[in-house]
Parts: sequence; structure tokens; C-alpha cells
Amino acid sequence: MSITMREFLHKLPKMELHLHLEGAILPGTAADLARKNGITLPPHDRVEDLYHYENLKEFLDIYTAVSDSVVSADDFRRITFEMLQSCASNNARYVEFFFSPQVHLPHGITFDTMIDGITAGMDEAKAEFGVESRIIPGVNRELGPSAGEELLDMILARGEERLIGIGLDFNEAPFPPEPYAALFARAAKAGLKVTAHAGESGPARHIAGSIDALGVRRIDHGYHVVTDEALVERCRELGVLFTCCPSTAAVTSPWHDLSAEHPIRKMADAGLKIMINSDDPPMFGTDLAIEYIKSAEMLGLTPAMFRQMALNSIDGSWLPETEKSALKSSWSQEIDGLIAQLA
Ligand code: ADE
Ligand code: ZN
Repeated sequence: MSITMREFLHKLPKMELHLHLEGAILPGTAADLARKNGITLPPHDRVEDLYHYENLKEFLDIYTAVSDSVVSADDFRRITFEMLQSCASNNARYVEFFFSPQVHLPHGITFDTMIDGITAGMDEAKAEFGVESRIIPGVNRELGPSAGEELLDMILARGEERLIGIGLDFNEAPFPPEPYAALFARAAKAGLKVTAHAGESGPARHIAGSIDALGVRRIDHGYHVVTDEALVERCRELGVLFTCCPSTAAVTSPWHDLSAEHPIRKMADAGLKIMINSDDPPMFGTDLAIEYIKSAEMLGLTPAMFRQMALNSIDGSWLPETEKSALKSSWSQEIDGLIAQLA
């Protein structure tokens, strides 16, 4: 029996390593939570109408406003469960997701309340769909390193094993990575993994800075790497994983056209380790399956490239090495079986 390319893409075993919990809030859930908690969302007819932007800054304003509707531990449980339900329905079997504690802290919501709710949602999704997940608190680069240090204190005090690492996000271009060097060194010393958004709206030197000053070997987005050939070579040698997100890239980076000329395709062609993710799925009208379909139909990524990206995702994930090798062999077999069925 043969399968179509879309069936192949759906059935592929997947990881999701670049998704923001608050960016995954469904419009109906945002409306429910805002009503329940007495939060006023920006003026709109339908909540979906808020989910339109011209650039990263405009998006982040809406992301923050919608995030404000999440208040109680049960609200965090609900959005986590719904996010993982969508991942599981698209065959994502392992998820490392960001969330933005510094959006909620100023409203008096404690870090423990957030983590109580998020871990409850993770447990529920694991029981119902078998999807395994880990949490990456994102440090807001707009707020400065000392606010980040306070957040790191909270992460370490919580002692939750599934708080696996930290990220660096929010408005990239005006906020280079270097001021966060000491914070990232302390996190790594404490056993946390590290990753950073770079080369999305900001230049290639933010990618180099994240590698050199922050010690990351994972870059979230990274499209500007294609503007610096020497950096491409370096990233290839270091085996840096780029977690690319096509729908977001078309809005928040300078390359709006998802075609074979897009940096994501060029990065794959240059032999960089890339993978496909969904970033803020409902907020960009997408989900993981749609990102895979866009990658095939608009960027022209091939079945062999999807196979390679699945292996890249395992390599760049923060699972223990023994689990990585077991997954690599079982997923390779599974994907070879799917490729053999392609019409
Ligand atoms: N937070 C959520 N999505 C983001 C993105 N694409 N870039 C930076 N910060 C983000
Ligand atoms: Zn992101």
C-alpha cells in the first residue's frame, strides 16, 4: 500500500524542540481565561483577529497581552495540556517547550504556581497521549541579566527535574546575547542545558555571540547564518542544531517568501543541522503538521531531508545519550519503512 507525501509527513515520528507555551494558547482558551480572570484583551471582534502581525515586535505585544489571561495553576495546566494534545495529534513524541515566567511574575503569579500547573498538564498529556515533555524557561532578553539571574534562582530553588534548561528570547535585534554570558555560565554549571534565539530578526553576529559567549550548541531560528559563510562552516563543524520555524520566519525575519530561496532551505542544502518546529502555532495560524507540509511544498524539502532532520532533532535534543541512540535506531527503521511506502 502506498502513501502520499502528506500522509508521510503526518506519520513521521517527530520531536518539537521550539514551541512557546503561551504562543500555543488557542483563541477560544484565551477568550475563556480572560473572561474568567477579568482580564481585558486588546480590542478585537474575534480573538483570532488579534493573531495578525507585521513583525516580531508587534507579535510580542500580542503574545504578552494574551499571556496575561493565564493566572491560576489550573490555567497553566489547561494551556499545557492543550499544547501537548496538538503536538501528540501531529505525532510529536517528545517535546521541549519554552515558557515565559517573566511575563507572569509582575502580576504576582509565583514561579511555583506556574510549574505546579504546567507539570500537572504534562502528567495528564503523558497519561492520555504518551507524549513526553520537558520545560525550558525563557529568559526575556529585554529585561536585562539581573532579572534573568533572579529567574535562575527560582528555577534552581524549585528542583524540578523536568525544568531541563534555559533559553533567551523576546525582541532580538536591539538586545545582543553577550550581557547574558555570566547567567548562562551559572545555569550550565548548575546542570541546565542552554539554547538561545538568534539570527531571527537580529544579525549573524548574534548567532556567533550566542555560541561563543553563551556556550549554546542549539540556535532557535538562526536564519541570518546564511549571510556569513565562515559562520556556516563553523556551525557545521560544531554540529549546531538550528530549530527553524517556517511560518514565524515569514513574519519575524527579513525573508517573507517561503520558497526554495528561503534561508531554511539554504541551511539544509549547506549541510547545517536543521529541524522544523512550530514556535507559536495558533498565533501564526499553524501547527506542527502544517509546518512540515509548508517545508515540503514551499521550501521543497525532500523525504531524505525529513529523515535527516528527525535524526538531527534526536541529536540536538536534551535526552540522555542512551535514549538518543535507542531512538535513532528505532526512528530510522520506522522512517525507512515510511519512505518505502511513498507513492
Ligand atoms: N517568543 C515567542 N516567540 C518568539 C520568537 N519567535 N522570537 C522571540 N521570542 C519569542
Ligand atoms: Zn521562539
